Amino acid sequence: EKGGHRHFMAKEIAEQPTVLGDALAHYLRDDTISLPEPGLDFSEFDRIVMVACGTANYACVVAKYWFERLSGLSVEVDIASEFRYREPPIPPRTLALFVSQSGETADTLAALRYCEGKAARIVSVVNVTESSIARESDLVLPIRAGAEIGVASTKAFTCQLTVLFLLALKGAHDRGRLDGEEMDAYLSALRHMPGLMNSALARSGDIGRVAKAVAEARDVLFLGRGAMFPLAMEGALKLKEISYIHAEGYASGELKHGPIALVDKSVPVIVMAPSDHLFDKTVSNMQEVMARGGKVLLITDTKGAKLAGDGCWKTLTLPEVEPMLAPILYALPAQLLAYHAAVAKGTDVDQPRNLAKSVTVE
Ligand code: M6R
Repeated sequence: EKGGHRHFMAKEIAEQPTVLGDALAHYLRDDTISLPEPGLDFSEFDRIVMVACGTANYACVVAKYWFERLSGLSVEVDIASEFRYREPPIPPRTLALFVSQSGETADTLAALRYCEGKAARIVSVVNVTESSIARESDLVLPIRAGAEIGVASTKAFTCQLTVLFLLALKGAHDRGRLDGEEMDAYLSALRHMPGLMNSALARSGDIGRVAKAVAEARDVLFLGRGAMFPLAMEGALKLKEISYIHAEGYASGELKHGPIALVDKSVPVIVMAPSDHLFDKTVSNMQEVMARGGKVLLITDTKGAKLAGDGCWKTLTLPEVEPMLAPILYALPAQLLAYHAAVAKGTDVDQPRNLAKSVTVE
């Protein structure tokens, strides 16, 4: 049942190229994005509100960068437990989007019910299509990740991101902000993702060696900029969840507003930064860390590794990827790092203490 893997989590990490490829094939017909009935027209909305918990919430934060950049719509993202009691105003031309692997998360379901009768449309992105959240939505977009058993969400995250990216492209198209050529370029970048993921998975051994060293730490910081910022938070969540190491994810630019006080030679600082237009800024943040004796683990591409120069504790390189899609690819080393750190510590990877796969009570 674990397909030769030691844990469900390892199996689910390894499945990502396949399930992501299947999800793409499901949503792409003749090179156009095809959504299930009754479909969605983004010219009907003025704004998007996205609500979820945990890893699904981080998928929403990544998607906020995409929706804003591609479709020009303003996006609000909130965690469901806050959203539901805050009773935020929902103007009529709002698209309300709920993301949940299980489709049964109590707070997310309550947030959805709050939007009923207020939002223009209620759309859910779920893995389990026979779930309460799916049942109560106007439109259900399955992520098609297959059963996810490990408590730590892995393949559901990258499949959520894939479906959300397709939605952002559809939004841009519906609002006249993306021509055919640009659309083709993004779709082709997405089609390359399973191959790139396979190269990332091939680095598992190297990541395992680094993870052994990370497993010795008491505290770990994850840094990222732009759409890599939510991925930093996701990397930290994964690590704390299964290895019980205290970890925090920060926007690189926030470092000097507080967290840099934590940095010394015992705190690994994991910087997730493809060589994009923000890379220079991230390098200067890394230098601030190194000047204080911090150990930087840089996860980047070959170009980024060159630009970063010397001084990093360790560097892991991934293939180059369309910058907007980097959070999907970089999720894999983040997951593998947490996985190998947990294995090194001997924790219960698939059933970490105090956690449930589906949180059906608030
Ligand atoms: O089933 P859901 O996607 O609604 O679950 C949301 C969170 O409980 C979930 O993502 C949790 O944070 C995971 N254990 C993270 O790995």
